[in-house]
Amino acid sequence: MEQHSRSSWGSNLGFLMAAIGSAVGLGNIWGFPYKMGKSGGFTFLIVYILLGIFVGFVIMSSELAIGRKTKLGPVGAYNKISSKFKWIGFLAVFSPFIIMSFYTVLGGYCLQYLSLNLAELSFGLRDAFGVSFDGSTTFGAMLTNPIGCAIYTLLFLGICYLINKGNLSDGIEKFNKIGMPALFVMLVIVIIRSVTLPGASEGLKFMFVPGYAVKAGFIEEAPSLLSVISIAGGQMFFSLSLAMGIMVTYGSYLSSYESLKKNSLIIVFSDTTVALMAGIAVIPAAVANGIANGVAYSDIQLAGPKLLFVTLQDVFSEMGAIGPFFGIVFYTLVLIAAISSAISLIEVVVAYFVDRGNLKGKPVKREKAVFWVCIAIAIEALLVAIDGLGASGIFTFWGTAGWNDCLLDFMDCWSEGVAMPLGAMLMALMVGYELNTDDVLAEIHKGGKQTKAFDTFYKLCIRFITPVAMAIIFAGIIAGFFTNLELGGLDAEMVGYIIAGAVLVIFFFVARTGKNQNRLQ
Ligand code: PHE
Repeated sequence: MEQHSRSSWGSNLGFLMAAIGSAVGLGNIWGFPYKMGKSGGFTFLIVYILLGIFVGFVIMSSELAIGRKTKLGPVGAYNKISSKFKWIGFLAVFSPFIIMSFYTVLGGYCLQYLSLNLAELSFGLRDAFGVSFDGSTTFGAMLTNPIGCAIYTLLFLGICYLINKGNLSDGIEKFNKIGMPALFVMLVIVIIRSVTLPGASEGLKFMFVPGYAVKAGFIEEAPSLLSVISIAGGQMFFSLSLAMGIMVTYGSYLSSYESLKKNSLIIVFSDTTVALMAGIAVIPAAVANGIANGVAYSDIQLAGPKLLFVTLQDVFSEMGAIGPFFGIVFYTLVLIAAISSAISLIEVVVAYFVDRGNLKGKPVKREKAVFWVCIAIAIEALLVAIDGLGASGIFTFWGTAGWNDCLLDFMDCWSEGVAMPLGAMLMALMVGYELNTDDVLAEIHKGGKQTKAFDTFYKLCIRFITPVAMAIIFAGIIAGFFTNLELGGLDAEMVGYIIAGAVLVIFFFVARTGKNQNRLQ
């Protein structure tokens, strides 16, 4: 009776598209390419792929297994299987909720730039009125127009609401089954245009050739090896939507006949491929346009909101009559990426309420849960929307400490910065030391073949490699905070390693002492 209001995927392909949709998001487009270029090109890619296999793949299959076995979202699942780490489920619901406060706003920006390019294509505004829609002017105008931002934020959230409120297979699954292939095709169109622009090769060299970013003057100094690991790991984590309860939730809707190993590999591979493709789509165009305008390499914005809405809008507005067409294709693809991630974030919070209702014997209708979750998100998102990346100056009291430029950064540092790496580290310790690891492995093997080699690999990763890698990632993030805070003579990296190391050691002992061998069954 308990499960009657829980949905399930229509097919494994539907599940895969939804999981890839969650993974492929803004992080792939505005984070990965720049981080790769800045942190050593191909070398970074190798570090990223290794981390993807030894950490990302392992955590992803564990999360899917925990979700599928318990048929619960993260709060219910961790509560059921762990006596010591029950509470990490809450971290995993807290982060998606907080991330939605700004993901919706960024989705709103995509809609606004889509509208701008649609208007330009329809009316030829530039020729008719003699105004140019360059990136920095439009971006500044948008950020200082809080009503517009608020309305588009709500519009974006409204679209997500409509998708989430349906059945899983008619809503999330259907959207991704159409959206993901469409995104892929659009990406190819943008790539073809981008790499054929004069000067595009400089962008490709920035992204792929080790050391080129410094040599050509894009950046002053390359990060150290440890920070490369930390940057690559943090990016991989965010990009694969890990430690956010998403894979637990999506796994809980999956049938036992499907192979979790194969599915996890496909998700990691697809997400990395799209990140590389996104880089080839955006970086060469951005660099080529910078060269054409005589901008110094160090001044070209290649990451974050400015890459999407300033640099690339410049590319489209200077491309001539066909520019708005490419603008429409590009912002639509970013919009699809943003929606498919946002709906997965909403789903985690929804699953929490649905599970809680079931557990209490008072089933909650999915539609109702989606509605109230979206209302709560609307409230936090409106604050971020009105702030306009700090343009409003309303929330500067948080910025005065120097560690957050705006409300969006503030929200981001708690979710992506603290809750995610911490949640993943604890989850690995729980699976590796508190639970009976073989139970988790048995679930991972369902629907596939069990081999000794895989078991050894998995145990090695979950017990040793993953927790240590998570500590390094976490240390890098803490170091980032301290660098911004400029705490006197303290060495930020050192502080990061001490704090992260201490957390790792403490929870390692917590996991190992007292009653162990909780079962996943
Ligand atoms: N993976 C998404 C991206 O790359 C972001 C995301 C993170 C989505 C966590 C859901 C959960 O942008």
